[in-house]
Amino acid sequence: MAPGLLGIEGLDRAEIESYLHRAKAFQSHGASNFKKLDTLRGKLLVNLFFENSTRTRTSFEIAAKRLGADTISIAASGSSVTKGESLVDTLNTLAAMRPHAIVMRHSASGAPHFLARHLETPIINAGDGMHEHPTQALLDALTILDHKPALEGLRVAIIGDIIHSRVARSNVHLLSKFGAQIVLCGPAPMLPPDLAKLAPGVVLTHDIREAIDGADVIMMLRVQLERQHETPFPPGDYFRFYGLRPEHLTLTRQDTIVMHPGPINRGREISSEVADSKRSVILNQVENGVAVRMAVLEKVMGVQAA
Ligand code: NCD
Repeated sequence: MAPGLLGIEGLDRAEIESYLHRAKAFQSHGASNFKKLDTLRGKLLVNLFFENSTRTRTSFEIAAKRLGADTISIAASGSSVTKGESLVDTLNTLAAMRPHAIVMRHSASGAPHFLARHLETPIINAGDGMHEHPTQALLDALTILDHKPALEGLRVAIIGDIIHSRVARSNVHLLSKFGAQIVLCGPAPMLPPDLAKLAPGVVLTHDIREAIDGADVIMMLRVQLERQHETPFPPGDYFRFYGLRPEHLTLTRQDTIVMHPGPINRGREISSEVADSKRSVILNQVENGVAVRMAVLEKVMGVQAA
């Protein structure tokens, strides 16, 4: 199998640390005068998105450009997938044009893993169904480490539609490898008891106040309407029980940070006051997405850091 990045579950601590260490070197810390590098000059990256994306797709593209690579972005709606071509045929077609890596997002869990077994070209998973979203977990870890000295011992509450969230899964894998304490919280249909088995030490609760009690990090998730056939909660009720509001922040410490992978739904899982508050690091996550994806592309596209 070609070396790519399919998930966090199969990585060890050293591999994760090496991505994070390299990503730190690429952080822009709010500056916009980033100097374009030529590390990946002559290399071609194909971005293939079968599901919608704003942050992930753009940041992979920016990351590639900052490293000097050429990029092509393809949205499935504009490709021959809509003409009935199979996934394997689409991927083989793109691979025949000899890109050095393919970034792929697909609604089927395991799709990139399956393709990686058939293709020489390295595949980077940009989200597969309800399974994994490895670069999101890496950028989340980088963002946490901008605010906290270490992941070990942190209490991280992940709140929302856990069952449908690849972000939650990748974060649980990463954080548990580093000894963080993880509390998953959501309404019963979005939090089946099996999720406690995701990693050792994962705790489940249906009570948001219990989840945020003593939390160092609160990670909010969107209700993934595209992955369920009916809305389990009317939006107003969902917000009343699981929406993060200013009154919740008063129950936490001053240094508790609020995260969200985006896209945020204001008034549904998070109030505007919280999303725009000083505690929110949501836009820092977006900014760190570029740094993390630079580190991943550099490694996967065959140029090791010095
Ligand atoms: C997430 C995704 O697509 O898994 N978004 C992202 O990549 N930043 C979460 C979501 O869509 O709610």
